[in-house]
Amino acid sequence: MMPIGPLMIEHRLIERMIDVMGEEVKIFDERQKLDFEFVEMAVDFIRTYADRCHHGEEEDILFRELRVKKLIEEHRNTLEELIEEHRWGRKTTLKLVEANKNYMHGTEKAMSTVIDCMKSLVQFYPKHIEKEDKHFFIPCMGYFSEAEQQAILREEWEFDRSLIHEKYKNVVVAVEKALTSRSL
Ligand SMILES: [Fe+2]
Ligand SMILES: [Fe+2]
Repeated sequence: MMPIGPLMIEHRLIERMIDVMGEEVKIFDERQKLDFEFVEMAVDFIRTYADRCHHGEEEDILFRELRVKKLIEEHRNTLEELIEEHRWGRKTTLKLVEANKNYMHGTEKAMSTVIDCMKSLVQFYPKHIEKEDKHFFIPCMGYFSEAEQQAILREEWEFDRSLIHEKYKNVVVAVEKALTSRSL
């Protein structure tokens, strides 16, 4: 498998979540009411899976390796655009998290920010994914030898593995904290 294989498989799951978010946001808009628990879950998916795991693999492994290659101008520009788009995605998700918290705490007017951010993310992800899948990933494989591709692929598996440990370590830390605060 080429090292872009796992990344493209991850794109398909991100698209499925984005499709659901697109449908949910339409309902929020029609009813002028949010399901803040859905938003929390969607945000957790975006932050953990789409950003920490998927964008992490792209930036910390594939893009890092591409940076040391002599890329043609078009590819170098696309690489910078993709990184900038990841930053935009993080900023918009953070804004969404904050607006959703405000809504949960009774600030009605935070609803329009939640809806706007969700609509922006729903528009953003398919375009970002298409740029990677159709215009960047495949041509970029030409910069790597077979051995280099396999090394990147191995590093991607390793990256996924360490994320599982990180996620569940955080779960244990969170339940320990909750227990301590209950017994105070
Ligand atoms: Fe990306
Ligand atoms: Fe991607």
